Amino acid sequence: MTKILKPNKENLTEVKKLILQDEVVAIPTETVYGLGANGLSSVAVNKIFKAKNRPQDNPLILHVSDYEMMERLVYGLTDELKLFLNNFWPGPLTVIMKAKKIIPKEVTCSLPTVAIRMPKNEIATDIISICNVPIAAPSANLSGKPSCTNAKDVLEDMNGKIPLIVDGGDCMIGIESTVLDLTTKPYTILRPGFYTKEDFLKFEDEILIDTALVKDGQIPKSPGQKYKHYAPKAKVLVLVSDDRKKVSFEISKILKENKNLKIGIFKFDQTILDVDSENILSLGSIFNLEQMSKVLFTGLRDFDKKNVDLIIVEGCKEEKLGFSIMNRLKKSASGNIKYLD
Ligand code: TXA
Ligand code: MG
Repeated sequence: MTKILKPNKENLTEVKKLILQDEVVAIPTETVYGLGANGLSSVAVNKIFKAKNRPQDNPLILHVSDYEMMERLVYGLTDELKLFLNNFWPGPLTVIMKAKKIIPKEVTCSLPTVAIRMPKNEIATDIISICNVPIAAPSANLSGKPSCTNAKDVLEDMNGKIPLIVDGGDCMIGIESTVLDLTTKPYTILRPGFYTKEDFLKFEDEILIDTALVKDGQIPKSPGQKYKHYAPKAKVLVLVSDDRKKVSFEISKILKENKNLKIGIFKFDQTILDVDSENILSLGSIFNLEQMSKVLFTGLRDFDKKNVDLIIVEGCKEEKLGFSIMNRLKKSASGNIKYLD
């Protein structure tokens, strides 16, 4: 069975042993938990795909602890680029660069590029440093399900599939890193995340967003974006309006018309008292989207544990962090979104 251990020195030695024996260990990062394994070992990386039931054409991120480790993996890591990266690293940014031959094709799914991230979470960086290999780590959920932001959620998906979960508590951020393609200029956001276009524009004159993220019918440049994702078992409906009262009114109407359904509600604090329901969770304040990103995935999972039939989530404005959160929510809802304005 799968063990859950605290990240003390003795346990980290066990993590090192397992990673260097090509086993998969779930580790905390500041964004979401990752399923970590030796990123230079095909055997280890194949075990990640198996544990997650991940499609074979969805490449993995290699997590590094410093630029020296990264230098071995990519072409084009110039001093100028390091200055740009230093504004965001260590932290929730993943960059796409030209891959060196040392990287197994299982990591890149045979693409000429590779995704690299230098995480901020100290447990993650300690594990990478003591193993002294890049750690390949996708989010620690079963493919298609919401990512895991605490050890208990990881256990739910991975029990019996991996030997060990390192319990680093709740993730600070709660949604995955921003994926930024550096192989062409201007740089392009392939997956929105904690860092926004506005954050990058402080240091670059122009930043593009992959058109597939804003228009239907386009093929995304990041393979992972084409899959249905972040979906709990229950159906999800997202309601969006600038007027919080309209959302409350619509929810009350749906509750009244569907008394036979068990409905979970995820709502901002400002108007949470408008709705009379036992199955209601807070997204925090509408003015603090960082709280929303922190609780979103684990909340969707909690509603599944309560066996609700439908989860209604109050959406936010699609700007800055709200753009990234709505990207995840639309996927969770398979496009089931209603604009009330
Ligand atoms: O915050 C995160 O990024 C978390 C933590 C654990 O670091 N990891 C994560 O990994 O979200 P994953 O595998 O769930 O998502 C990685 C994304 C996928 O959409 C994948 O398609 C994309 O990065 N990706 C990986 N390599 C790529 C490449 N060479 N070109 C384009 N996209 C790539
Ligand atoms: Mg994922």
